[in-house]
Amino acid sequence: MFSSSLGKKYLMALSGIVLVGFVLVHMAGNLQVFAGQEQINSYAHSLQSLPWFVLWGSRLILLSAILIHAWTAYSLIMENKAARPNTNDIEITKRAGWSSLRMGLTGSIILAFVVFHLLHFTIRLIYPEYSEMMTTVGSPDEREIHDAFSMIISGFKNDFVSVFYIVAMFLLCRHLAHGFSSVFQSLGIRSESWRKKLDLLSVAYAWIIFAGFSIVPLSVMAQKYQIFESYDSTFFPPSMEEPTPKHSKK
Ligand code: HEM
Repeated sequence: MFSSSLGKKYLMALSGIVLVGFVLVHMAGNLQVFAGQEQINSYAHSLQSLPWFVLWGSRLILLSAILIHAWTAYSLIMENKAARPNTNDIEITKRAGWSSLRMGLTGSIILAFVVFHLLHFTIRLIYPEYSEMMTTVGSPDEREIHDAFSMIISGFKNDFVSVFYIVAMFLLCRHLAHGFSSVFQSLGIRSESWRKKLDLLSVAYAWIIFAGFSIVPLSVMAQKYQIFESYDSTFFPPSMEEPTPKHSKK
C-alpha cells in the first residue's frame, strides 16, 4: 500500500513535469501572435508539418501525461480520504485536506478547459468555420495553409470565450503555484533549506504562465473595446479588425 502510493506520487510528479514543460513551450509559441500573422501562421504550420511520428508521438506523450496525472491525483485523494485518522490533530488534517481538495478542484476545471480548448482550436468542432480560414500568409510556398492568427483573434473577440480562458488561466496559475514546488517534494529533493526558494520559484513561474497566456485574450479585448487611448494600431496587423478572408494574401 505504502509503496504503491509512493509509486503514484512519483508518476504524478513525473507527469506534472511533462505538463509544466508543455505549458511553458505552448505559452512561448502563442506569444508569437504579437509578431504578426505571418510569424504565428508559419510557426503553427511548421508544427503541423512535423513528421507524423514526431507529431503524434508528442501528442501521445502529452495525452498520457494528462491521463496519468489526473488518475494518480484522483487515486491519491481517495487513498488519503480513506486513511484519514481520527486523531486530535484536526487542524493539520483539515489543512492537508483543503490543499488537496483545492488542487483537485482546480485540476478538474483545467481538465474541462483543455477539453473545451481542443474542441475550440484543435478539432474545431465548436466553430467548424475556423477550419475554413485559409491563407497564404506565412506559407513556406504559395500553397494555402491554416490561418491560425485569424482563428485566435476571432476566437477571443467573443467576450464569453475570452473571460472563460482568463478564468481558466487564473486557476491554472493557482494550480501551478502549489504543484510546481510539490513536484520536488514528491521526488524527495526538496530540503527544508530549499523549501522557501522553491516555493518562490513556483509562484513566480505560475504568474509568468498566467500573464503569458492571458495577455492574448486581454489584448484582443483591449483592441475590441479601444481601451487604451494611445492605442497603437500597428500592434496587431489590420486583419485583427476583420479576420483575413479566404484566399487572401498579405
Ligand atoms: C491564451 C491561451 C491559449 C491560446 C491562444 C492557445 C492556442 C492554441 C492553438 C491555436 C492550438 C491549436 C494549434 C493547431 O492545431 O494549429 C492549441 C492547441 C493546444 N493547446 Fe492551447 N492555447 C492556449 C492555452 C492553453 C492552455 C492553458 C493549455 C493547457 C493547460 C493548452 C493546451 C493545448 C493543447 C493540449 C493543445 C493541442 C496540441 C496538439 O495539437 O498537439 N492551451 N492551443
